Amino acid sequence: MAFETPAAVELRGLTKRFGSVIANDGVNLRIQPGTIHGVIGENGAGKSTAMKMLYGIFPPDAGEIIVNSKTCVWESPADAIAAGIGMVHQHFMLAGPYTALDNILLGAEPVRCGVIERKKARTRLEALARQYGLPVDWDSPIEELPVGVQQRVEILKLLYRDAKILILDEPTAVLTPQEANELFRNLKKLRDEGKTIILITHKLKEVMSFTDHVTVFRAGKVTGEMPTSQTNPQELANLMVGRKVVLNINVPPAHTRDELAMEVAALSLAGTVAGSRHKLSDVSFSVKRGEIVGVAGVEGNGQSELLQAILHPREPLCRTSGTVWFLGEDVTHWEARDIRDLGVAMIPEDRQREGLLLERPVSENFLLGLQRSSAFSQGGVLNSRNLLAAATQAEEEYDVRPRDLAIPAGKLSGGNQQKLIVAREFQRKPRLLIAAQPTRGVDVGAIEFIHNRIVRARDEGAGVLLVSFELEDILTLSDRILVMYEGRIAAEFARGQVSEGELGLKMAGS
Ligand SMILES: Nc1ncnc2c1ncn2[C@@H]1O[C@H](COP(=O)(O)OP(=O)(O)OP(=O)(O)O)[C@@H](O)[C@H]1O
Ligand SMILES: [Mg+2]
Repeated sequence: MAFETPAAVELRGLTKRFGSVIANDGVNLRIQPGTIHGVIGENGAGKSTAMKMLYGIFPPDAGEIIVNSKTCVWESPADAIAAGIGMVHQHFMLAGPYTALDNILLGAEPVRCGVIERKKARTRLEALARQYGLPVDWDSPIEELPVGVQQRVEILKLLYRDAKILILDEPTAVLTPQEANELFRNLKKLRDEGKTIILITHKLKEVMSFTDHVTVFRAGKVTGEMPTSQTNPQELANLMVGRKVVLNINVPPAHTRDELAMEVAALSLAGTVAGSRHKLSDVSFSVKRGEIVGVAGVEGNGQSELLQAILHPREPLCRTSGTVWFLGEDVTHWEARDIRDLGVAMIPEDRQREGLLLERPVSENFLLGLQRSSAFSQGGVLNSRNLLAAATQAEEEYDVRPRDLAIPAGKLSGGNQQKLIVAREFQRKPRLLIAAQPTRGVDVGAIEFIHNRIVRARDEGAGVLLVSFELEDILTLSDRILVMYEGRIAAEFARGQVSEGELGLKMAGS
């Protein structure tokens, strides 16, 4: 028998059910110490569930967790943390009003919580931050820091607790390409120091560039495991989805109508959205019906402010000057709900805060914003039969899993929450679609699907404003590309006029 290095983590026959859903069905997985191990798979395949069991969030129904050759039974994450395991969740678990420092100390307080211990903790954290190049403003409320920095805080929290095995659940879903590169530089450094890193991601480029090994999940099972050097993106995509996926769809030329879907003139903003650095200043552009206009840019350059200003013009932050027309109407001072009633669909940036009621069932979430549509309500009375029929059909068509309208939206996997929002918004048959980060956290099969639906909406005559940090979204879909830099529109390109490299340079302000 060949001698193998003992695995840092081994999962044997791990099984977990939630009601009738088998989230993990006999999962076997070996992770070598001192490696970066990619975990990929469709939305709802069971990746987060497997890692949450490894981290002690819930116990397996069957199977074993073996860490450094010892079989472990966790009572809670505290046990896993004590064994050197740390996890950064798909949706961060930081407490908004507290400072970065308090967020790290919460739950890991030095024994005597006095001033001296706090000082010591801070000194140690500052040293860690320097060592790994993860600068943090320790004294600001965490909710005011950009997501990239919030994530640094999450990672420093693990390092502070001396984690040897770091689980990162879709860490780059909320990061810009620049921030993601910085993250991977740090992860490599950590690996080279002997830490073991488990990386859940939907981005096959990241898997190919930064992992040593990769495991593929599908429908609660492991369907493939290999050294990264022996595979390629197309094979991984096919293994994940169980069919051939088109990684880059072919978009036919637009038949743009001579009719404006939206127009923004001289829009400026007095304040910034939390975590952002640049106010919106003097932004003007238009989107025609039958056209997709992509807004590219590094996060914090005014995209969030632009979305706020056009969609929530009445909120205090957004004392604006300038005018916004949607579908021929001056909507500058309209309520968001009246804007929707015009035939405007929107996929919001933050799906958990703005897009869904997490405690409420999927059916109710599907109805949000559709209540007043004549298809679902007559004289103020809800036609629940039509609603359920439409929601059932949408679940099918958009492949929202599980097919259960009664479960709370918060119980869906991250990617399925996104698919639910997309399904609802397309149900509106929009004449104008404002899509912010529409493919955030969805698997390659769903990206293909969402891209196709956006193009179909365009071809049915909708104007589309697409705001995305994913250059792939922008370059694949946009008939025209606007680059935002420091709150202004810094450049404009027609489809095919700009390469990924050039676009990156413009986004960096060159
Ligand atoms: N707390 C829970 N209660 C009920 N069902 C759950 C819970 N957590 C997960 N599930 C279900 O278990 C299945 C696996 O979910 P999981 O979050 O592990 O998927 P995932 O692979 O991480 O997907 P994604 O890529 O979308 O994040 C899904 O069908 C999900 O709805
Ligand atoms: Mg997940």
